Amino acid sequence: MRIILLGAPGAGKGTQAQFIMEKYGIPQLSTGDMLRAASAAGTELGLQVKSIIDSGQLVSDDLVIALVKERIKQEDCKNGFLLDGFPRTIVQADAIKAQGIKIDLVLEFDVPDELIVERVTGRRIHKASNRVYHIKYNPPKVADVDDLTGEPLIQREDDTESKVIERLSIYHNDTSPLKAYYQAEEQAGTTRYVKIDGTKPVIEVSQDLAKILG
Ligand code: AP5
Repeated sequence: MRIILLGAPGAGKGTQAQFIMEKYGIPQLSTGDMLRAASAAGTELGLQVKSIIDSGQLVSDDLVIALVKERIKQEDCKNGFLLDGFPRTIVQADAIKAQGIKIDLVLEFDVPDELIVERVTGRRIHKASNRVYHIKYNPPKVADVDDLTGEPLIQREDDTESKVIERLSIYHNDTSPLKAYYQAEEQAGTTRYVKIDGTKPVIEVSQDLAKILG
């Protein structure tokens, strides 16, 4: 099964990706995580990527498309994958289509902008595992500490209020057109498109997903 998670920053894509991965045994391909890993390598390209991510802007289509194409070739993607944060532009969607990669299901996480800022600014992450917490909605057992390892949680540099507002604006301009793009694919019978109410509590969103995925 090849799935795309579509939705604004903080809509809950990464949180539910963990659930889907564990339940269905397909890998999560998060372009945000791939780019953060590349930037952590400290190469010249990595440093350029870091400054773009930290500013909340999008990295170039060419770079992200190349990363995804390489990742999809790997053995663990042979039975399917979960694209999280990709595609984010029509150019990116066209690029995977041109490769003959058929998408079975597009899941749109619908969350109004008013909720997004609180979600993103309250997010905390365990860097080594990418486990995601929220100080109010999904708090760790001990404040600022990962439940499984006891290691400290971090806040992403792009998770400040001003950067979330910028990222939301980019989402509405560059990524939202993908809704009509994949709805048209559904009309043509080439994919399935399902909109999810992402405002529900995490467990209820997972239950809705379980019903959709069967
Ligand atoms: P990326 O890492 O993809 O970030 P994003 O899309 O901005 O998405 P987020 O990770 O912020 O949100 P999410 O939907 O996963 O939310 P989460 O589950 O964590 O991209 C980062 C950057 O990389 C981009 O800005 C860009 O620069 C670059 N980039 C990446 N892909 C690119 C591409 N394809 N092209 C170009 N550039 C690219 O949830 C958020 C918080 O809410 C958490 O604290 C969570 O605990 C909480 N929460 C989740 N669900 C619920 C719920 N149901 N109820 C209450 N709280 C909830």
